[in-house]
Amino acid sequence: MVRVITGKAAELTRQCGRELAVAAVSARDRNKDRGIDFGNANWFDDPVEMAKSADIDVFVELIGGDEGAAHACVKAALEAGRHVVTANKALLAKHGVSLAEIAEKKGVLLNYEAAVAGGIPVIKTMREAMAGNSVTRVFGILNGTCNYILTRMEAEGLSFDACLEDAQRLGYAEADPTFDIEGHDTAHKLSILTSLAFGTKIAADDIYMEGISNISQADIRAAGELGYRIKLLGVAQKTESGIEQRVHPTMVPTASVIAQVHGVTNAVAIETDILGELLLSGPGAGGNATASAVVGDIADIAKSRPGFQHGPVFGRPARELRPYKKARMRSHEGGYFIRLTVHDRVGVFAAVAKRMADNEISLESIVQHAAGQEADAQKTVILVTHETTEAAVRKAVEGITKDGHLTDKPQVIRIERAG
Ligand code: HSE
Repeated sequence: MVRVITGKAAELTRQCGRELAVAAVSARDRNKDRGIDFGNANWFDDPVEMAKSADIDVFVELIGGDEGAAHACVKAALEAGRHVVTANKALLAKHGVSLAEIAEKKGVLLNYEAAVAGGIPVIKTMREAMAGNSVTRVFGILNGTCNYILTRMEAEGLSFDACLEDAQRLGYAEADPTFDIEGHDTAHKLSILTSLAFGTKIAADDIYMEGISNISQADIRAAGELGYRIKLLGVAQKTESGIEQRVHPTMVPTASVIAQVHGVTNAVAIETDILGELLLSGPGAGGNATASAVVGDIADIAKSRPGFQHGPVFGRPARELRPYKKARMRSHEGGYFIRLTVHDRVGVFAAVAKRMADNEISLESIVQHAAGQEADAQKTVILVTHETTEAAVRKAVEGITKDGHLTDKPQVIRIERAG
């Protein structure tokens, strides 16, 4: 970020009509060699002091974490009437509404483009370009690490662990990579998109979440054979029973646009009444993606002029963001992929089909084939359902498990409609 501001100084000055300079810096370790020249910037041991300093116009928070120094600094900066730019999705997921209230009261900006989908300008798009649109569903590939892992597992047949190691080495993963692979990072980003889409308060804690750590090569191969690709999606959708918010591995048709989003690239699809479906895709993680979004946010502030009334942080005034009724996961409706490893004996296929019928699940296909080396003793049964409910699928799979025909844990992956 500092390298972009100093390296592109002349162009940024031209675009903003004023000069951007790094006025002050604070970090945990003053002596660490970061390979960056901070010029004449003042050093602060205490980031909260820096946030309140009269020498700065904009406070940029790149600390991370939903409490501690990050929260203290951002709050202090806003209360002192400084604009804030942050890349911290966890902070916004937890304190976004209260911080937005302070920003709006003080008449300053709280910009957070880098917090969701890396370099993709999805916040600006939803906050500014889509006024008047009513959103019905927003979904996307919001975690570069997971998409990188799934892409390489499919393309190169590599193990999950080898791909994760590379993602960490390349700087895509969070400090604790379970945040990526178990879906927390996607959930934080989805909670922000939900608020922008539906004018609701942010509530990341109640999002249904499944990660990608139990996706196997068997799932990836079966998906390919059936014309699907597996992606970790975050989905927020208006339904008759409330707003559905879910993060889970998802089968999307191989021919869909979102299925072509590979590697660390992110994508966000927004469906509205006026626009139809919009899909944005671009670099989702890594230093350059973050730097581009952060500098864009700083430049927006630099272009604004004193006395200019800023728009609300989450598209509607923070005090008007409403609590909302969450749809329960059991009432989710959609198609399902179910992979079962079963004993190879008479009556298993019929028993599985009966459990489906008993729960009124209509099948699009049911295929049985040998399960690799233990083909003598067990078989794989793959079912694809027509649209049904999560509750029906859970009951049917519970029943199949009770029947005693399975030799391994059943795998259930939801299918998502995607254009
Ligand atoms: N760890 C995140 C990802 C970085 O993999 O997408 C950006 O939030």
